[in-house]
Amino acid sequence: MGSSPEATSPETDSPDAGSSFFEDYSVNLIIIAVIVSVLIYKIYTNFIKVPVEAPAVDLPKLRKDMTVAELRQYDGQQAGKRVLVAVNGWIFDVTRGRRFYGPGGPYAAFGGKDASRGLATFSVTSSDKEYDDLSDLNSMQMESVKEWEAQFREKYDLVGRLLKPGEEPINYSDEEPEETDTSTPTPVEEKKEL
Ligand code: HEM
Repeated sequence: MGSSPEATSPETDSPDAGSSFFEDYSVNLIIIAVIVSVLIYKIYTNFIKVPVEAPAVDLPKLRKDMTVAELRQYDGQQAGKRVLVAVNGWIFDVTRGRRFYGPGGPYAAFGGKDASRGLATFSVTSSDKEYDDLSDLNSMQMESVKEWEAQFREKYDLVGRLLKPGEEPINYSDEEPEETDTSTPTPVEEKKEL
């Protein structure tokens, strides 16, 4: 008796057994890689929450000093969908960056607000204080606020000053007309002066 040549183990029955194992293995690897990539993409887009970019809106250039209360209207939901953000006492027109600061954007909390404290403390929140004089920030935080201000000056148009309570707005009407009709588009993209 003993083992006949036919009585081999099942693995050797099919000469293809080994290679089909590797084929299955690589197909599985591809499927896993696709699933992992989709998951990473989903986590990233949910975390960053950057909505599809809104079409560029050419609003007339706005030059105006504002109080905190006036600034609040410019959170991207009203006033011609313009978005303004204040940093270190200066107001910037960030409408071009509305995917960041507009409704649904990752930094929407800064839209229509004084973002100084949030930027200095690395927290995407804004206070509802009437005016934040930032006097309790330490020197490093103030340095950070100034750096952010410089970045905003570089990237966005300056609108005016954020007014302290009792402070009077400057009349910019000699420089250029103030915004009167937000629905009137203008093709002019002028560089700011200050
Ligand atoms: C892990 C946390 C964070 C991640 C992954 C992140 C990611 C990013 C990315 C990718 C950009 C550049 C987007 C672009 O230019 O296309 C950006 C810009 C920016 N981030 Fe963050 N960020 C984080 C936290 C924060 C925090 C805590 C703040 C504020 C306190 C902040 C404020 C900003 C601002 C103001 C911009 C500039 C947007 C502009 O160009 O106007 N970020 N962030």
